[in-house]
Amino acid sequence: MSRSGKVTVVGAGFYGSTTALRLAEYDIFESVVITDIVEGKPEGLALDINQSRSIEGFETKVIGQTTTAEGAGYEATANSDVVVITAGLPRKPGMSRMDLIGVNAGIVRGVAENIAKYSPKAVLIVVSNPLDEMTALARIASKFPHQRVMGQAGMLDTARFTHFVAEKLNVQVSSVKTLTLGSHGETMVPVPSRCTVNGKPLSELLSQAEIDELVTRTRNGGAEIVALLKTGSAYYAPSAAAARMARAVIEDAKLVMPVCAWVTGEYGIKDVYLGVEAEIGRAGVVKVVEGALTPIELEELKKAAEAVRTKQADVKDL
Ligand code: LAC
Repeated sequence: MSRSGKVTVVGAGFYGSTTALRLAEYDIFESVVITDIVEGKPEGLALDINQSRSIEGFETKVIGQTTTAEGAGYEATANSDVVVITAGLPRKPGMSRMDLIGVNAGIVRGVAENIAKYSPKAVLIVVSNPLDEMTALARIASKFPHQRVMGQAGMLDTARFTHFVAEKLNVQVSSVKTLTLGSHGETMVPVPSRCTVNGKPLSELLSQAEIDELVTRTRNGGAEIVALLKTGSAYYAPSAAAARMARAVIEDAKLVMPVCAWVTGEYGIKDVYLGVEAEIGRAGVVKVVEGALTPIELEELKKAAEAVRTKQADVKDL
């Protein structure tokens, strides 16, 4: 089996380390690099993952590298094809993702600049919060074309919605299709008109009140887990989402996924990072795919775009 491509995961917290593990276990990459500013942590985790290879049966090598905010250690990430940026602090109970903007902006800016220096052709997948703003900031700091910088949120929010629908109807998750667009936050836009169970519209299986309840739980999906964990935020579903996106890039899969991408007129919205469906491949966002929405859903998506536009305009100064 031939393996190709180098992927770097910046940040060796639970989100980053779980993403690195998933990427390594796919056994399709030549190498997976994991970095962190906590000395020894990425090296230790890499050693641990590498020692699991003979048991799990994968050959991808994992390389751990301590880095500094000034850029020491980034040589190990050189010429990465894909870089997943998880760096930054997670929420504490009661915090909104937006409460993290000040501290995480400094971290994400530094990371994006260092990554761009060593991997000028990489595709960046940002997962740091607040997601839409950090994606916009990574684009500015890296100076990469918009197409090569995207954020992970829609895959996760959609997966949460799917889980809640499957639980509610007691059906297999594989029979459920859902979609969320908009921001990864207050203005997340679940799209019930695009949700089906075994091909049947969700609206034929659940009442509007029941759908609304699942939509609300999806919108608060991250906060629900933060409140239960008490320290840190979710990472199993988030890392599954980020790893799948990195895989779609390396395999040039041209898979349509809900991601945070730069829109250029789709849905009548332009020049903002927004949760939309997009074809993901070697070029990054190959194209934004505009699907059918009801007038109410379109209205909500436009509202979400305006809400994140204001915040994204501010990030250049952070
Ligand atoms: C969540 C965080 C990772 O939604 O944004 O769980």
